[in-house]
Amino acid sequence: MWKLNRRWRQTTLIVHIVAAGAWIGIDVIVAVLVAVGRFGSGVETRSLAYQALAAFVVWPMLISALVCLATGLLLGLGTKWGLVRYWWVLVKLVLNLGLCLLIVTALRPGMAEVGGYGRELLTGAPDPAAVSELFYPPAVSLTALAIATVLSVAKPWGRVRRGSRPRGDTKRQLVTARR
Ligand code: HEM
Repeated sequence: MWKLNRRWRQTTLIVHIVAAGAWIGIDVIVAVLVAVGRFGSGVETRSLAYQALAAFVVWPMLISALVCLATGLLLGLGTKWGLVRYWWVLVKLVLNLGLCLLIVTALRPGMAEVGGYGRELLTGAPDPAAVSELFYPPAVSLTALAIATVLSVAKPWGRVRRGSRPRGDTKRQLVTARR
């Protein structure tokens, strides 16, 4: 089976961690912009926050999420961890895929409306009720990414199929390990 050698594994892991960190950072920026848009002082500041949210956030977030996913897939396939062999990797895969799907299907389509609302604020339009829902995306994403980070470090729950033999281990190695 194909494996990442030491140098490529380290490089991929660095890119993976940087992408995950960038993704978390962008989520924090989203949370700050949503809070400034909702509670900021002055209509101009609030309008700018919504327009910045609409203009700059989705693509960097999607790119960092996809880089995290791609490097995660490489790390899973190219190491002993596999993609569906350990619960902590499988759960991270599901979280990463789910968040990518949410960015494309729920976050991106609503951004034009958010930008329009930012511009309308300058004309004295009232806050539509829907803006309070803008807190959900960063809250959901930051929670999922925090869980993924804890899983990455703690690596809990062991193997998906208990009792199956680790790949590459011979019968003799297993017998020795049990002793
Ligand atoms: C959901 C967002 C993700 C975050 C925040 C994240 C974060 C991290 C972090 C911080 C590490 C370093 C852990 C350590 O060295 O102790 C790591 C390692 C790892 N991640 Fe992710 N990850 C994510 C998604 C994924 C996905 C989708 C996969 C696979 C499909 C994956 C597979 C792995 C593997 C296999 C390692 C261990 C690499 C090694 O030790 O060589 N990750 N991840």
